[in-house]
Amino acid sequence: MRAHPAGPLHGNITPPTAAGAPPEELGALDPHVWPRSAERIGGELHLGGLPVTELARTHGTPLFVLDEGDFRSRAGDFADAFDGADVHYASKAFLCGQVARWIADDGLHLDACSGNELSLALAAGFPAERIALHGNNKSLVELQLAVDAGIGHVVVDSFDEIDRLVPLGAARVAAGGSPVPVLIRATVGIEAHTHEFIATAHEDQKFGFSLSTGDALAAARRVVSEPGLHLAGLHSHIGSQIFDTAGFEAAAHRIVGLLGAVREATGQTLEELNLGGGFGIAYLSEDDPVSPSDIAAKLRTVIASECAELGLPVPRLAVEPGRAIAGPGTVTLYEIGTIKPVRLGASGAPGTPLVRNYVSVDGGMSDNIRTALYDASYTCVLANRSSDAPPALCRVVGKHCESGDILVRDLWLPSDVQPGDLLAVAATGAYCWSMASNYNYLLKPPVVAVREGAATEIVRRQTLSDVFALDAVLADLPAPSPAPSQPAPEHAVGVRS
Ligand code: LLP
Repeated sequence: MRAHPAGPLHGNITPPTAAGAPPEELGALDPHVWPRSAERIGGELHLGGLPVTELARTHGTPLFVLDEGDFRSRAGDFADAFDGADVHYASKAFLCGQVARWIADDGLHLDACSGNELSLALAAGFPAERIALHGNNKSLVELQLAVDAGIGHVVVDSFDEIDRLVPLGAARVAAGGSPVPVLIRATVGIEAHTHEFIATAHEDQKFGFSLSTGDALAAARRVVSEPGLHLAGLHSHIGSQIFDTAGFEAAAHRIVGLLGAVREATGQTLEELNLGGGFGIAYLSEDDPVSPSDIAAKLRTVIASECAELGLPVPRLAVEPGRAIAGPGTVTLYEIGTIKPVRLGASGAPGTPLVRNYVSVDGGMSDNIRTALYDASYTCVLANRSSDAPPALCRVVGKHCESGDILVRDLWLPSDVQPGDLLAVAATGAYCWSMASNYNYLLKPPVVAVREGAATEIVRRQTLSDVFALDAVLADLPAPSPAPSQPAPEHAVGVRS
């Protein structure tokens, strides 16, 4: 029998809880998980020196609150740890004009993975020579944009792409310009997952040139043979949310082997090695990510010893952290709308509470698809006040028409949470806003940067007018009245007494 097209989560299933025992202190802010400026004052969560009720009242909910100091200090941590190397912020994690400017001002580089990410960065004034363009299916238009802008590197991903790039490079050289600097993205046969990595014999995925089949070397030969292209180096990226440095070290070992093979085959000693991103962060207290300085030290050691073994000079290193810069400093604020106790019935394991409270908030999978898509784990706290009420087993869900619309699958919240309270979900800075959708015509939330008691809306809330403007029938109608999720001026949110 075919499964329901919406997947198994569409059916109402009540698996035993994975919440474990209630924590000693409900609502505690583990500094490992929460933004660097997060603190409770008078029971209320403050971010960047501002109380969350004030942020919610001014900007509405759902709301992404980005701790600027956290974001920039994490970027700085990578820059310091990888001193002498190039740190590219992987902008797919979260990009807007303000973030592009912070990254530019703080001296980092930028990884763009589409022509539009590239356009956004350029429009914000990001220096083109510090941008690398990625993508497994770059169009001619995207490549032309990159070449015309004079970006730092095009990270080539296929033979078709090289075919498209060659005439652009030739034209640039014919016009008196320099050849287009290119990195070859190699698939090194390491497939990394959270907490572990496995080496695969072949790489059954769409990115890069396979090392094991010889495609990566063939691509290098091809690029070297083209006067309009300059083979600057190699690139490898093995996955995302990785905790174990062994995967990076194995990949570094293999990619240095390719550097040696390229020199043997072409006589060229490449100057750059980009080891990609993927450094994990703590979503939960038990997550144990590696610090940038430990990662840097390990990678430098492996690269230095592999290069010495092959008699190669140590190339300039580059890395591309996205999540590890953007992820931890942002929380999403939601307002609770309804709470529904659901009996778990006989399927609950012995000792499992028989009731799970479905706590519905005013956003959901349209502003954080990661729980539904990857079964990702998040934590959240009651944010507008503290509570001494005993713990209740909860599941935080969104307002979408989909049973899989879950934000936090299993957690304990004070049993007195109620409609009007604010919840804050931690570590939502990476791949939440950037993967947001308009499913069920919910509108994309704003992003507010907070710092030392000041809040700046760096991305405004999408309006229904923005959405209607795309619709052939609705575009020319008078502007609709404010959407329910927009804050009315006197929106009394989170001020339950
Ligand atoms: N460099 C390359 C070539 C990449 O493909 C990626 C991520 C990064 C760097 C940055 O990886 P990070 O440091 O952020 O882990 N949507 C997924 C993550 C997809 C990552 C795609 N590539 C998620 O929400 O977990």
